[in-house]
Amino acid sequence: MTGKNSSLFRFVIILVLVVKIKIQLSDESEFLVDRSNTGLTHIPKELSLETTTLDVSQNYISELQTSDILSLSKLRILIISHNRIQYLDISVFRFNQELEYLDLSHNKLRTISCHPAVNFKHLDLSFNMFEALPICKEFGSMSQLKFLGLSATQLEKSRVQPIAHLNISKILLVLGETYGEKEDPESLQDFNTDSLHIVFPVKKVFHFILDMSVSTAISLELSNIKCVLDNECSYFLSALVKLQNNPRLLNLTLNNIETTWNSFINILQSVWPTTIEYFSISNVKLQDRLDLRNFNYSHTSLKALSIHQVVSDVFNFPQSNIYKIFSNMNIQNVTVSGTHMIHMLCPSQISPFLHLDFSNNLLTDMVFKDCGNLIELKTLSLQMNQLKKLANIIHMTAEMKSLQQLDVSQNSLRYEEDEKTCSWTKSLLSLNMSSNILTDSVFSCLPPKVKVLDLHNNRIMNIPKDVTHLEALQELNVAFNSLADLPGCGTFSSLSVLIIDHNSISHPSADFFQSCQKIKSIQAGSNPFQCTCELRDFIQHIGQLPSEVVEGWPDAYKCDYPESYKGTPLKDFHVSPLSCNTGLLIVTIGVVVLVLAGSVTVLCLYLDLPWYLRMVCQWAQTRHRTRNVPLEELQSTLQFHAFISYSGHDSAWVKSELLPNLEKEDIRICLHERNFVPGKSIVENIISCIEKSYKSIFVLSPNFVQSEWCHYELYFAHHNLFHKAFDNLILILLEPIPQYSIPSNYHKLRTLMAQRTYLEWPMEKSKHGLFWANLRAAIRIKLMAQGKEINHTQS
Ligand SMILES: *[C@@H]1O[C@H](CO)[C@@H](O)[C@H](O)[C@H]1NC(C)=O
Ligand SMILES: *[C@@H]1O[C@H](CO)[C@@H](O)[C@H](O)[C@H]1NC(C)=O
Ligand SMILES: *[C@@H]1O[C@H](CO)[C@@H](O)[C@H](O)[C@H]1NC(C)=O
Ligand SMILES: *[C@@H]1O[C@H](CO)[C@@H](O)[C@H](O)[C@H]1NC(C)=O
Ligand SMILES: *[C@@H]1O[C@H](CO)[C@@H](O)[C@H](O)[C@H]1NC(C)=O
Repeated sequence: MTGKNSSLFRFVIILVLVVKIKIQLSDESEFLVDRSNTGLTHIPKELSLETTTLDVSQNYISELQTSDILSLSKLRILIISHNRIQYLDISVFRFNQELEYLDLSHNKLRTISCHPAVNFKHLDLSFNMFEALPICKEFGSMSQLKFLGLSATQLEKSRVQPIAHLNISKILLVLGETYGEKEDPESLQDFNTDSLHIVFPVKKVFHFILDMSVSTAISLELSNIKCVLDNECSYFLSALVKLQNNPRLLNLTLNNIETTWNSFINILQSVWPTTIEYFSISNVKLQDRLDLRNFNYSHTSLKALSIHQVVSDVFNFPQSNIYKIFSNMNIQNVTVSGTHMIHMLCPSQISPFLHLDFSNNLLTDMVFKDCGNLIELKTLSLQMNQLKKLANIIHMTAEMKSLQQLDVSQNSLRYEEDEKTCSWTKSLLSLNMSSNILTDSVFSCLPPKVKVLDLHNNRIMNIPKDVTHLEALQELNVAFNSLADLPGCGTFSSLSVLIIDHNSISHPSADFFQSCQKIKSIQAGSNPFQCTCELRDFIQHIGQLPSEVVEGWPDAYKCDYPESYKGTPLKDFHVSPLSCNTGLLIVTIGVVVLVLAGSVTVLCLYLDLPWYLRMVCQWAQTRHRTRNVPLEELQSTLQFHAFISYSGHDSAWVKSELLPNLEKEDIRICLHERNFVPGKSIVENIISCIEKSYKSIFVLSPNFVQSEWCHYELYFAHHNLFHKAFDNLILILLEPIPQYSIPSNYHKLRTLMAQRTYLEWPMEKSKHGLFWANLRAAIRIKLMAQGKEINHTQS
């Protein structure tokens, strides 16, 4: 029983898990529809029922009805900001049970009516035209609410009551242009939020008595503060003083301030003794000159002050007062950026500054000159200033015994090699000198313990081999320079990250991989690689590294030269080892030639290749010649295929080899002694035989030449037959005839022998078949007038 039950139980659990997983999966399948800025006047009708996020911001929608969104039952996020909606009945969302994020900011809403069945996490009604706070009692049941954006021109404490029990992470309150006519200073006290952001009317002088010290707020942000006369600012200053009542407040942010220098310093002064730890001010417009001299730094909790983007109408008054106030601040972090500050004084006593960020100002090399009071400073950023001489920066940091990070990027720094002093502070670990006009010489003076060195976008052409040893250097960025090769790691024995893309490296040496064993990441793409033999080693090495080591591989690594390979990724560039290795090439060619010569020799020696070649050649010639003769004419007059002439010494061969081999294939032969016509002389018989035969075969041997040739020479010459007969002549060389043994007056024979227009009788039996075939091919022809005459002559 229990066993059965537990297995059933397990089954149910698995089922539940499966269903849960399915639900999670379907939750993840987002369906986003973005119709922002498309000139809509209504919510589009043809939307997918699966839509989970709908963005119709920046259109001309003026109305929202239940039917517009009724069918979108999966809708979770709806953004209708920057439209023209004037009235909202929240009950239109009662069927969108999943809806949790609604942005209706920047519309023209004046009134809303509420409905209890909606539960948002994010509801933004800011930048609308509400008079009173748009909070209805139904909001009190939105237990999930994390963000609430409101706007109003009048604040009433009672309107906040419905949401006083909710813990809302962030409330944005935008006060309309007419705010302030009738104020209730206590109206915000019931807000229950970690973070409150109040946007005051843009055009109005700050004349408000609102108490912003909301007791639950950790973070307070105030936008649009304007008080351009010193006495006007008393309202704002007393509002700041009240913040002291709020013990939880840690962060204060002020945006868009327009005031005087005196009031600005007064603002700093009133925040100084509060509980605030992070004070951030941005977009400040300052007028007038600073008269104040003293600043009371005591009782502060501040850890970080940052000031961004300050413009000052007048800057032609002595500013040393301003610099003095800042340089003597007793806090850890100070950021002043995007101002026209041209200088900063050395603190008058040992300073607690740990991190200073003075980026994007107009500071010169004179900043912190001979300053011995910044001995605790760890990071200093002077990015984007007017620094010119690196030697002055080196000299400046020499006194900063704790400095670990220095950023002097985006200046106009150069370094002259003849500078005598190289006194970088020994503590420096990270140095950013990118985007300056430094050259190779910078390598002659670098902080000895530096781990991270950024020199990208300078004018470095070569990393000298004899640079000071930087044993601690782990990360080197020399991208966007004019380097022609990868550096070796002889002097950077710990290098693990090298960034060297966008240089002029055309054929990087593969030595890099031997000397830089600790490399974990190399980024060398976008260089003009020359895809030639020299690059093979590099490609091989880099291709073998794990892909996470080679940043941008393979896409960023392309051939730039030769033209035919331009744009080819290095990974696809292959050359055979042969074409790259001259020694190997020569050896290979040598071997091929030797093998060829060897086989030719073997063929000639053992298989008599030349003989075969001559046979084939003659066969081809015969075929060619027979084709040119008017066959029918021949066929009608001829009775024999061939006439054979030979010396008596060779008659054994003729009778036992030649005749049987020809006659067995139905070839008719005329022999003058066999086909002898009585009553005619031998010569006449021979001539008649020649005339009736298609071809004349002469069996040549030294005997024949000595004894017989002269007859024929004579006969032919006499009967002017040679010319015709020559065409029909087949010479069989039975035995080699040395050239000298041919009498010198036998011109024709000499020519024939020299032209090698004869068939050689091969000694090897294996070649006889081809010999006969060739010979038969030469004399084969279809004879018409066989019948009687042949019979008659034969009988
Ligand atoms: C809000 O926070 C307070 C204190 O942190 C807590 O006592 C209270 O229960 C919270 N209320 C809700 C609705 O979460
Ligand atoms: C306060 O400011 C610090 C530094 O800007 C930030 O890290 C922190 O999240 C802020 N706290 C609140 C609650 O906004
Ligand atoms: C500086 O401010 C503290 C606290 O606000 C105060 O106690 C002290 O008297 C002030 N010192 C001077 C010289 O005003
Ligand atoms: C100060 O600045 C440094 C560097 O920007 C930062 O790491 C640190 O968190 C800051 N400290 C405070 C207290 O804001
Ligand atoms: C150096 O500064 C530049 C900006 O000037 C920045 O992009 C880069 O990341 C910095 N380098 C390091 C190593 O932080």
